[in-house]
Amino acid sequence: MISASHDLLKCPDNVVAPVKATIQFSISDKAGSLDDCLATIESMQISLTRIESRPSKISEWDYDFTVDINAVNFEQVSQVVKSLESFAKQVQIINNAKVPDSTPWFPRTLTDLDPITKKASKIGEGLASDSPGANDAAYCARRAEITKNADTYKTGRPIPFVNYSRVEIETWAVIYNKLTKIVSKFLKSRTGFTLRPIKGIVPSRYFLNGLAFRVFHATQYIRHHTKPLYSNEPDICHELLGHAPLFADPDFADLSQEIGLASLGASYRDMKRLTAIYWFTVEFGLCRQGDQIRAYGGGLLSSFGELEYCLSDKPEIRPFEPAKVAQQKFPFSEYQPVYFVTESFKDAKMRVREFTKSLSRPFSVRYNANTESIEILDSKEKIIRCAQSTDIPTLAQNLESLAQSC
Ligand SMILES: [Fe+2]
Repeated sequence: MISASHDLLKCPDNVVAPVKATIQFSISDKAGSLDDCLATIESMQISLTRIESRPSKISEWDYDFTVDINAVNFEQVSQVVKSLESFAKQVQIINNAKVPDSTPWFPRTLTDLDPITKKASKIGEGLASDSPGANDAAYCARRAEITKNADTYKTGRPIPFVNYSRVEIETWAVIYNKLTKIVSKFLKSRTGFTLRPIKGIVPSRYFLNGLAFRVFHATQYIRHHTKPLYSNEPDICHELLGHAPLFADPDFADLSQEIGLASLGASYRDMKRLTAIYWFTVEFGLCRQGDQIRAYGGGLLSSFGELEYCLSDKPEIRPFEPAKVAQQKFPFSEYQPVYFVTESFKDAKMRVREFTKSLSRPFSVRYNANTESIEILDSKEKIIRCAQSTDIPTLAQNLESLAQSC
C-alpha cells in the first residue's frame, strides 16, 4: 500500500515537487462512468496530466484507464484511490512506492524527462573554447538556433525539423562517405528506442535515467565544417552514425535500458560505477564476432581516428567484467588507453544485470511500456502483476531482490 513516509520528492533543480502517481482502474462501458471518476479527481483539485484508455483484456464490456496525477502528498493519492473505488473496479497505483528519503530524485514517467532537458539546456549552452567553431560567430548563432528546439521540446511531440544548410549538408557528406567505408552494416530490427533532442552534454545521472525509458538524448547541431572528421563533443553525426543504428538491435537496446534502470535513484558511488559501464559499452565498447573484434560503441563508430586506433595493437583490450569495468578510470578528450570486449550484446546484458544486484539501492524497478512509467517493485502484489506481464529473467531478478530485502 501507500507510504506517507516521504511525501515530497526533489526534482533536478532542487525544487520541491508534488508526488506524481499513476493509477489504473476499470469501468463498465456505460454513460457517465468516466465522468464520475474524473469529477472525483477534479473535486480534490488534483492536476491530471495524462489519461489513456484501452479495452479491458478481462471483460469485453469494460475499459481500462491509466491516469497520471500530481498530488500534494501520498495521503492525497490514497484519497483518490479510495474515491475511485466508489465508481471503478480494480483500482491500483502503478508507480507509487516506499522509496527512502535519501534516494536521489529520478524520473517516474516519460514527462518527468522534461525538466531534465531544461537542466541540460543550461549546461549545454556554451561552446568549448577549444572547439573549431568557438570563434565563428555565424556557426555559434546557427548552433543556438538549432538548440532552441531542445528548450521547448515536450514529451510526445515529434522531433523538431531542422532545415540544414548547404554547408551543414556538405559537412555531413564528408563524414558519411568516410565512415560508411568502415561501418557497412546497420542493424534493422526495431526496439522501441526513441531519440529526444538535447542541447548538449547532460549530467550522466539524467542521461542514464532516460535510457530506462528507452529514450536516448541526442544533439541535433553539426560540427564545424572546417573539421568534418573531428568533434570534441557530441553532435548529430555522433548520434546518428555512432549511436542510432545500434539501438535497432534488441539485445543492445536491452543492455542500454538495463544500465538506465539501474541508474534510477542510484547512490553517488553507484552512479560513478554505472557511468563507467555505460562509457565502456554504449560509447566505447568492443564485441567479439567469430575470431574478430569489432567496435560497437558510438564514440568509436563516429570517430574515424579512434575506430582505427581501437582495433590496432596500441590500446589494452580486456574482457568485459562489469565489476572491473565499473572501477576503470577513463579520459574524456583523448583516445582510450583501455577497451573492454564482450562476447555478445546478450552476454553483456546478462553480466550487467548480474552486476546491478551489487548496487546499494534498496528497491528494484521495472519499466512498464504500457503506461510508459517506472514501477517500483516492493510488494508481493506488484511482483505478481509483474509476473503476469514480464519476461522470466526480470521476474527472477525482482523476486531475488525482494527476498534479500525481507
Ligand atoms: Fe555518445
